[in-house]
Amino acid sequence: MNSIINMVNYMNCKITHFPEPVLLKAAQPIETIDESIGQLAERMKEIMVEQKGIGLAGPQAGVNLQIFVISLDGTKENAKVYINPKIDPSGPMNTMEEGCLSLPGIYGKIPRYSRCTVHALDLDGKPFSDTGEGLYARAMQHEYDHLQGVMIKDRMGEAAKLRARRILKRLQEDYQKKQSSQGSK
Ligand code: NI
Repeated sequence: MNSIINMVNYMNCKITHFPEPVLLKAAQPIETIDESIGQLAERMKEIMVEQKGIGLAGPQAGVNLQIFVISLDGTKENAKVYINPKIDPSGPMNTMEEGCLSLPGIYGKIPRYSRCTVHALDLDGKPFSDTGEGLYARAMQHEYDHLQGVMIKDRMGEAAKLRARRILKRLQEDYQKKQSSQGSK
């Protein structure tokens, strides 16, 4: 059943920054792939392009659902949608600097598997699998982490964590300020 009342409007979704609670918990599987999920995917691609990223996960659009988009060249045309994804990483580990749209200003060297297979549903609810290496494999693992509430700050080495401390504190203060200004409206 899909009444108007039950339709969620995802058109106003915005990028979320740490420590928004939605980024810190596991996302839920999508049970029905309807028009609203198509809208959500569209909006996620827009946010990714606006923010100049190459991937975006549901929680980063403020939505607690298992969905991510990846576009290795950062274009909307080449953005692929992965619903309820499961990943199967393999191969040797490879360490590279990563950033995250939800942790602006923070970068760290993150070890990832060099190869990765993803099993997911597309927007028609059809299952598909895809295998990638290098940056694609890295992007899959990064976005999949978001669906578990895991971010690069949790995977960085101690030195990078230390360097990130000041920025994390500022993001926390920004979030608190936003909360209190919303509360006073
Ligand atoms: Ni990220």
